Amino acid sequence: MITFTIDGIQAEAESSTTILQVARDMDINIPTLCHHEALQSYGACRLCVVEMQKGKRTRIVTSCNYPVEDGMVVRTDTERVLAVRRLVIELLLARCPNVTVIKERAQELGITEPRFKKDNNFCILCGQCIRVCREVVGVEAIGFAGRGVSREVAPPFFDPARQCIGCGSCVYICPTGIITMEDVKDAPSHSPDGGSVMGTQRIMHNWKQTFRMAECKSCGRPFLPQVQIDFMVEKCNIPREELEVCKTCKP
Ligand code: SF4
Ligand code: FES
Repeated sequence: MITFTIDGIQAEAESSTTILQVARDMDINIPTLCHHEALQSYGACRLCVVEMQKGKRTRIVTSCNYPVEDGMVVRTDTERVLAVRRLVIELLLARCPNVTVIKERAQELGITEPRFKKDNNFCILCGQCIRVCREVVGVEAIGFAGRGVSREVAPPFFDPARQCIGCGSCVYICPTGIITMEDVKDAPSHSPDGGSVMGTQRIMHNWKQTFRMAECKSCGRPFLPQVQIDFMVEKCNIPREELEVCKTCKP
């Protein structure tokens, strides 16, 4: 166990625990934008900064990926910390002035208008969509493309995402809501024998892909992309019959 101090309170935690985890366990609020418990920390947004003192040295570190150390003294709410957070959120507000989560975080930090030139972007480059796809789903359908101001999330070569299975994990995790999918009824699609079948289709707009939805073998409701079922049968070794029935109809 590691012993340290956070906001004047003596605390203990296991050695690989991050400052953010400890703070959350102690009900200390640290704002985050690119952190998710299910994913490895990436340290992209820098909103979660705290001040960390070890010996005579004081540093600003990102709490989501900085593990606690013996004897460290952490402060989560100093003027220096708040100044960094304000600058981070101000830059994000200038980049994404119409994104609700950014406006809310900015307001919490007392920023309503950025001093910088406004853009109208809807992606904060947090990378959660890329990480959930790779780390949780086990696919690498999307990644970062471009540099500097033209950096964005895209499938390889900006082509339709060949590896995408239409699971929607990226839609679920995206904090800004910029990734969208739509289930369209009575649309034609290619059948496995090369012909055309009518049915429900899932469109992943951002990744330029469309998927035929499989119908539940029990109630007939379209419930999962066929390609996702095939992927799960192969990757998780689950009998196909178990995956071809929707959650409601499962015994
Ligand atoms: S699309 Fe959404 S989840 Fe992906 S990097 Fe942008 S804001 Fe983050
Ligand atoms: S939450 Fe820590 S850098 Fe984004």
